[in-house]
Amino acid sequence: MSKIAVVIGSLRRDSINRKLAHALAKLGGEQFQFDLLELGDIPIYNEDLFDPEPPAPVRRMKASVEAADAVLFVTPEYNRSVTPVTKNVLDWGSRPAGKSCWKDKPAGIVGASPGAIGTAVAQSHLRSVAASLGMILLTQPEVYLTFKPGLIDPEHNIVDDSRRQRLGSYLAALDAWIAWSRAGRSPAA
Ligand code: FNR
Repeated sequence: MSKIAVVIGSLRRDSINRKLAHALAKLGGEQFQFDLLELGDIPIYNEDLFDPEPPAPVRRMKASVEAADAVLFVTPEYNRSVTPVTKNVLDWGSRPAGKSCWKDKPAGIVGASPGAIGTAVAQSHLRSVAASLGMILLTQPEVYLTFKPGLIDPEHNIVDDSRRQRLGSYLAALDAWIAWSRAGRSPAA
């Protein structure tokens, strides 16, 4: 069973992206072990905080990513980009130089927003950052979820059949992507 470290780009209690992460964890519970990373105590990146190691919450986050078979980013969209939470985690994880937790890590991106394009621009930005960090990024299928109230019930079930199937297909693709990455070849090979 593959272990997925989940980076949720919102600290908000009622975050729709947190709801989506929980729903994915339930939907993929038989395929994956999901680790929803605790990111609320990670300070804003500041090189002065290396003493000489990064702060304990950052070390914990990096250890969780390193222990995972893949990372899943569940990103909101803020002003047509990723949120500070996501970028901060990416920046911390990339340092010190040569000790990045992201390099060669299989990764997927999904996101939810109330808006019509469902985080498409944020995901596009995130893909370019993830590529620059050397992540092995699943780029198809894509999930741009326009979130309507009630789409996910309090027990983390996705109530809409077509969206549940689409997210299930996404998880199946992620599973295959991890297997291909382990085998050291691309799906096209
Ligand atoms: C937003 N929101 C938003 N939505 C979107 O689709 N595109 C955008 O560019 C923005 N920009 C934006 C900026 C800021 C500062 C905030 C606070 C919000 C709305 C956003 O999608 C909505 O608040 C989501 O509910 C945020 O995700 P979580 O926190 O619920 O996961």
